[in-house]
Amino acid sequence: MNLETMRASLAEHYNLQPSLEKAEETAALYEKTKRVVSPAEWANYAPYVLEINRLKKERDAIILAHNYMTPEIYHGVADFVGDSLQLAIKATEVEQQVIVQCGVHFMAETSKILNPAKTVLIPDMQAGCSLAESITAEGVAQMRAKYPGAPVVSYVNTTAEVKAASDICCTSSNALQIVDAMDSDTVIMTPDQFLAQNVAAKSKKKVVYWAGSCIVHELYTAEDLNAYRTHDPEVKIIAHPECTPEVVAASDFTGSTSGIINWVRQNKPAKAMLVTECSMASNIADSLPEVEFAKPCNMCPYMKKITLEKILWSLHTMREQVEVDAEIAEKARLSVQRMIDLSRQLGI
Ligand code: 13P
Ligand code: SF4
Repeated sequence: MNLETMRASLAEHYNLQPSLEKAEETAALYEKTKRVVSPAEWANYAPYVLEINRLKKERDAIILAHNYMTPEIYHGVADFVGDSLQLAIKATEVEQQVIVQCGVHFMAETSKILNPAKTVLIPDMQAGCSLAESITAEGVAQMRAKYPGAPVVSYVNTTAEVKAASDICCTSSNALQIVDAMDSDTVIMTPDQFLAQNVAAKSKKKVVYWAGSCIVHELYTAEDLNAYRTHDPEVKIIAHPECTPEVVAASDFTGSTSGIINWVRQNKPAKAMLVTECSMASNIADSLPEVEFAKPCNMCPYMKKITLEKILWSLHTMREQVEVDAEIAEKARLSVQRMIDLSRQLGI
């Protein structure tokens, strides 16, 4: 669907003109994001927020949103927000018949794998992921041939085919514990070379890995972080484990997106630099007025494909529906469910 056609179609059905009255009606939601969204911007968003929240009820839908969604999505329309592990677990618990996944395609696919009978919508099919695109099931087979008998632990940032070809999944919040729980001295990790190297640095296993990377996190360098710290010794640097081991070593804390949020909430540093996607700091800025968030940050072009107007269009048209071949879904479900079960067992 081209943007102009979508906009014309939405304008026929809804009044989406900026509105101070609608901004007033949604003032409680605006409160959570006023440090980073101006009143004029919110007057633009409010008509969409109202229509989306109304349509959600009409369609029996729930919006599951990743921590990288923009503030107007995160605070305005999401019913549940979290990191990849939390979103996967929540997908096993939803009562609604329709799941709108505000995140990237592999997250929507995971929800569909766990809920084959439900309708899973993604507002933009082009919301991909450089990690998910870096490996196919054939790549997993090559790794198995190279390291016979070694179990394959695949990051959830993979396609259903790759999950189906793997033994178990992991996310950034449980990767080390999952690898350590494998019954083998050697463990294959796919597809993130940096997550694998960061796990290997702490694991008792020999970790071999695929050479994929995240285009957002690979951009950060230890030199930049160290230069920033020299300039501002007070700053706490908190990095996602998709960053290089050098960046992780230059940081004060490393964790999943929710791990990062929790760390900042608990420690409330005067100044924090979140070495991850830009929306993370924006989404927590209002609830942490005592923390100054230092830039730089990098934007994920895939996550940013999800917008309020595409969410409205998705609920209006009930598109795009995410489908997974039944046989692949069955095998992929085993890998995801093993991860969820093991995480629960390990208390993660
Ligand atoms: P989390 O599981 O930490 O939310 O990470 C997902 C992701 O895509 C980070 O780039
Ligand atoms: Fe994929 Fe990186 Fe974007 Fe996360 S930030 S969705 S890993 S490209």
